[in-house]
Amino acid sequence: MNVATIDAVSYGVTDLAEARRFWSDFGLSLQGEDRDRLLFGSLDGSHVEVRHRDDPALPPPIESGPGVREVIFGCRSPADVAAIAAEISRDREVREDGDGTIHALDPLGIGIGFRASRCKPVVAPDPGFNMPGRVGRRDRARFYAAAHPMEMTHLAFMVPRTEPELDFYVRRLGFKVSDSYRGTGYFLRGGASVNHHNLFLLDPGGKGERLGFHHLAFEMADIHEVFGGGLHMTRKGWPTMLGPGRHPVSSCYFWYFLNPCGGGAEYDFDSDIVGESWVPREFEQTPEAFAEWCLQSGMEESLLYRGVQTGDTISPKADRQSS
Ligand SMILES: [Fe+2]
Repeated sequence: MNVATIDAVSYGVTDLAEARRFWSDFGLSLQGEDRDRLLFGSLDGSHVEVRHRDDPALPPPIESGPGVREVIFGCRSPADVAAIAAEISRDREVREDGDGTIHALDPLGIGIGFRASRCKPVVAPDPGFNMPGRVGRRDRARFYAAAHPMEMTHLAFMVPRTEPELDFYVRRLGFKVSDSYRGTGYFLRGGASVNHHNLFLLDPGGKGERLGFHHLAFEMADIHEVFGGGLHMTRKGWPTMLGPGRHPVSSCYFWYFLNPCGGGAEYDFDSDIVGESWVPREFEQTPEAFAEWCLQSGMEESLLYRGVQTGDTISPKADRQSS
């Protein structure tokens, strides 16, 4: 079925102005705006669409409050889209819109769509890391004043049951399991995607408690952009959800921010790319499997940031030693 990208994600929100401020500060470019709708883009052409929560153009919500209402996956070709339409129309309603995108609901009611991918390949500039015996850069390193997310790479949902979702995405639509939390969480990538995961489905502790959106992730050009973007968001007053830190599953550095559109928005860097020899692993669902290390609340934990916020002068090391 050759799902390769996440082309677009639609949110239903209560405050369009706040959504506009969040995604602008996060680093997406505003590409369209009217009274009822905002359209933001990342560098590869993937989109975030924001509408009012009660906009009839959106699929039905899966939870109360603001949140994701539809995920549009990009396929390699129109033939893949036709094959998916034929498969899923066996047991659910499928609507095709004027531009060839098909829309449906997944087994748990999450709005999904498929189209021939419109994402453009993007290439990050080489940051030139210096390593012992390997000089990658002979000038100063880059510092980012803000982020410009390159690609939209994955979404995460809390689900009350994983089995119907696995049957739908893996057995019927050709997604692959890259890794899992034993019986409770599945990291899925599209059949033609090399990203570690495009979709993460988690039933925390196997308790089957809730259905809801958790977060949407974007890949950054380098680790410095994760930190620069995170610092910019912090200065703009957006609270950290978690991070910065590093995930053992998918190996990436992360920094999540609470999003007024619902859930979190994640800056990532250095996520695993799945090759031919990739062997899926099962992890226990533990805090250690979630984060090798992380800060709970970003730069608010940093003495430097606290100093800047309170107007204190940061003492030079020599002063601290003498006091
Ligand atoms: Fe994530």
